Amino acid sequence: MFGGRCLVALETAGSGREGWSSRSAFVLAAIGSAVGLGNLWRFPAEAGANGGGAFVLFYIFCVVLIGLPLLLSETLIGRHGQSSAPESARRLARESGASRHWSILASLGVLSAFLIVSFYCVVGGWVLHYVWIFTSDLFQTGLSGGAFQGRDPAQIEALWPNLAGNGGLTVALDALFLGITLFFVARGVSSGIEVMAVWLMPAFFVLLIAITVYGAFGGAFHESMAFLFSFEPHKLTGSVMLAALGQAFFSLSLGVAGMITYGGYVGRKVNLATTSVIIAAADTFVALVAGLCIFPIVFAAGLGVNAGPALMFQTLPHAFQSMPFGSLVGIFFFLMVGVAALTSSVALLEVPTSWLMEKTGLRRVPASCTIALGAMILGALSALSTNELAEFYPLNFIPLFEGQGVFDVLDGLTSKLFMPIAAIMTSVFVGWVSDRRLVNAETGLSPTLQGIWRFLVCWLCPLTLFGILAVGIFPNLFI
Ligand code: PHE
Repeated sequence: MFGGRCLVALETAGSGREGWSSRSAFVLAAIGSAVGLGNLWRFPAEAGANGGGAFVLFYIFCVVLIGLPLLLSETLIGRHGQSSAPESARRLARESGASRHWSILASLGVLSAFLIVSFYCVVGGWVLHYVWIFTSDLFQTGLSGGAFQGRDPAQIEALWPNLAGNGGLTVALDALFLGITLFFVARGVSSGIEVMAVWLMPAFFVLLIAITVYGAFGGAFHESMAFLFSFEPHKLTGSVMLAALGQAFFSLSLGVAGMITYGGYVGRKVNLATTSVIIAAADTFVALVAGLCIFPIVFAAGLGVNAGPALMFQTLPHAFQSMPFGSLVGIFFFLMVGVAALTSSVALLEVPTSWLMEKTGLRRVPASCTIALGAMILGALSALSTNELAEFYPLNFIPLFEGQGVFDVLDGLTSKLFMPIAAIMTSVFVGWVSDRRLVNAETGLSPTLQGIWRFLVCWLCPLTLFGILAVGIFPNLFI
């Protein structure tokens, strides 16, 4: 499946810029970017809160018809330009005889990636803390029983609010997670990002499958299958559809120039259509398996699955209490989430780093340290901000952000505004503005598939994304 190693290495080296050493390295790094907290934390939370089957089915529909065409569009801009994301977009615009200002689509993505990495690492830090909590619990309560023996559920559920409310600890954990991310980005594409992906992604898949198989023996597997895959049409409401579309989008790392940046390190001979299909399929597979990993454990403990964001940090630790080897499973589970989060945060940090290197001529180490320092300052603000303090924040006067802390404001600003705007611009740019011959030469699609892809990019993507954008700005639009 992953042939053509030498060809790719030679090609990329020929462009005078560092690049992936093989096609499989690119595919693994891109899967690592896509698979993250979005799959393991957000997807099960959204599926649980939005009624299961209807959400899941529509999610798959969105991945195939909107996510996949956009993924191919982003990677082809990057591969054509062989530069940082904005420069790649500018190059394609210039060669198509279009305004160079189209590069704004990628500049907006660079800004989003910077904002997202700042709060993504805060959550990464929480995950590290849970690995520690379960490890120390293993020493206290022993191997074979459930986790947190002798503690009542309220105490277990208080772990999360206690952690989020402990400013000093959250900032320290954020710094630790960001520091690990920086380590890999500072080492470079082939000796840092790629090495990490090649080692950690297989480890991630082993952990995911092992925990899922173990959880399946807990008895609630059929119940979970029914919840995730039984389609009840009346549950497919407008808000469920939008949640599914937004989730597909975030999960595939679209709209933040991440795939343009990674595409910029890909050699000329790689078939971008095939690799895009592999990346989207792997990402969707992980989201579905994450559901099949988490829901049986939660159902077997007799708990509810509709806790939203609290599902992973409150419901699940509670469920591990009644599970044999609960602390050990807890350690492995949060290690797995940490690995997935790391391969995504590395992608997020790489986007602004590659931009800064190109813009200023700085070398990789100082450029990545500068970006990480900025992300640390912003991350500390997120870590320290709670929604109770929100009235003091500067964006409070905008209805979209009323009553929210820095964390939620940054999340809302990127996922509801910047990412959809960047993605609409990307589809219009690739579908309508760019030179058809240049674009077609990059996709690797047969003429028939080319036609279908073009239709999706020109019409379906911008129109539906416009829907997300409208609802993001005016939440009550369809009510
Ligand atoms: N796709 C990642 C996830 O599912 C998040 C991400 C978004 C990573 C954008 C990189 C760029 O968690």
